[in-house]
Amino acid sequence: MNVAVMGTGHVGLVTSVALASLGHDVVGTDVDEEKISLLMRGVCPFYEPGLEEALGREMAARRLSFTLAASEALADAEAVFVCVGTPARSNGEANLVAMESSAREIARYAPDGVVVIEKSTVPAGTAERVRHTLARERNGFRFDVASNPEFLREGTALKDALEPDRIVVGVESERAGDVLRRLYRPLTDRGYRLMETDIATAELAKHASNAFLALKISFANALARICERAGADVTSVADVMGADPRIDRAFLNAGLGYGGYCFPKDLMALERLAARLGYEFTLLREVERLNDEAVSAAAAKVEEALWNLEDKRVAILGLAFKPGTDDVRFSPALALARRLLDAGAQVVGFDPRAAANAKQDFPELEIARDPYEAAAGAHCLVLATEWEEFRTLDLAALKEIMAYPVVVDGRNALDPVEVAAAGFTYYPMGRPPVLQAGSSTAHPNRDHGAFVPTPDRLNT
Ligand code: UGA
Repeated sequence: MNVAVMGTGHVGLVTSVALASLGHDVVGTDVDEEKISLLMRGVCPFYEPGLEEALGREMAARRLSFTLAASEALADAEAVFVCVGTPARSNGEANLVAMESSAREIARYAPDGVVVIEKSTVPAGTAERVRHTLARERNGFRFDVASNPEFLREGTALKDALEPDRIVVGVESERAGDVLRRLYRPLTDRGYRLMETDIATAELAKHASNAFLALKISFANALARICERAGADVTSVADVMGADPRIDRAFLNAGLGYGGYCFPKDLMALERLAARLGYEFTLLREVERLNDEAVSAAAAKVEEALWNLEDKRVAILGLAFKPGTDDVRFSPALALARRLLDAGAQVVGFDPRAAANAKQDFPELEIARDPYEAAAGAHCLVLATEWEEFRTLDLAALKEIMAYPVVVDGRNALDPVEVAAAGFTYYPMGRPPVLQAGSSTAHPNRDHGAFVPTPDRLNT
């Protein structure tokens, strides 16, 4: 099938590559000249594992191409996926300007009979607006509108697109249903599940899914605060809860909380949509508050360990909002860095992929070339994003080069026994800290910390 994809950001590009690999003829278009010029040369404008290779493969097979001209992309399209950005306005509502201008372009250039599929995450009711715009912009235009939300995660996006746990299609006409079923037949033939709903339901299901996942994370983070006071271990509490298939263990990892371009934005957008529809979804506000509180809790641990932050150096390992991406948008790691810097600390960060983006967003942040350079002379090391390579750091070498042997594990990624054995005072999130005897932070009764009676002292 001839497919046009409008918007070649994370969602649009992964969608384009995935549809091409399912055998469709795909043309991607974007208003961003630089992005299109990179893509025309087969270069992926952002880091996503496996995407550039797949992009090259599909372009070489001539199933995938890119153009700056929407007119060209749309000329023969039987289906158009709208994957443009829907960023948050200052009041939290989704900004749908790009959705509207895409609809205008479609009315201008697409052939009659086209099926317009919204893939961007949008508030329920957006397809109705798109429908009105299409009809208003072109007299007698024959088209169908559908919603096909994406459930891709950055870092595993291509796999999520080609091995989806569900394909949701919101359709309200026979033709749109038929086109979407044909588009995804290669996947449904392999047994992947396609769920057909009305359009508003599909739109809402996406927001609901992201909001619920964020809720699970915030629940785990609230539990972490209680575990810290009760001397319990939040990871074990989550294991016990997660053994119940009705709850499931996924997304119950306490730590610095969620970030990224989706959860924070979608939560706000759902809350605003609910308010506009006359329903106060206050639970969502609490989810956001708990997420901010997670960063504050980590900052408090650094302060607890170091006393005054002025003249102290803090190394933050991991700046991306999660491992496997170079994306720093709404990154909890950067929020923590900002908080510590504002409180007077010197902050140095390291990330295997996201350093350049972090520097662009946060020019005051000092960037190190590797974890050891970051740790040199630091009074505290914070693990903020759980990149795999941080699990195998040479702890003895780190201790040697740091000013104080203090680790705050913002993602509970390290083994407390190993970190303690290497002589560090160790603060995880929602788990008992391990305090070295003689550490100035050793308040076992208050912190319910496990004591390691070694002769180590803070190297003041
Ligand atoms: C999320 C959803 O998982 C996707 O299904 C959805 O398609 C996507 O948003 C989107 O709307 O486009 P993504 O933002 O890539 O995907 O990242 P996630 O893997 O969901 O992680 C989000 C954040 O939650 C990260 O900062 C991560 O560190 C944090 N997280 C995740 C936790 O703090 N604890 C957990 O247990 C799990």
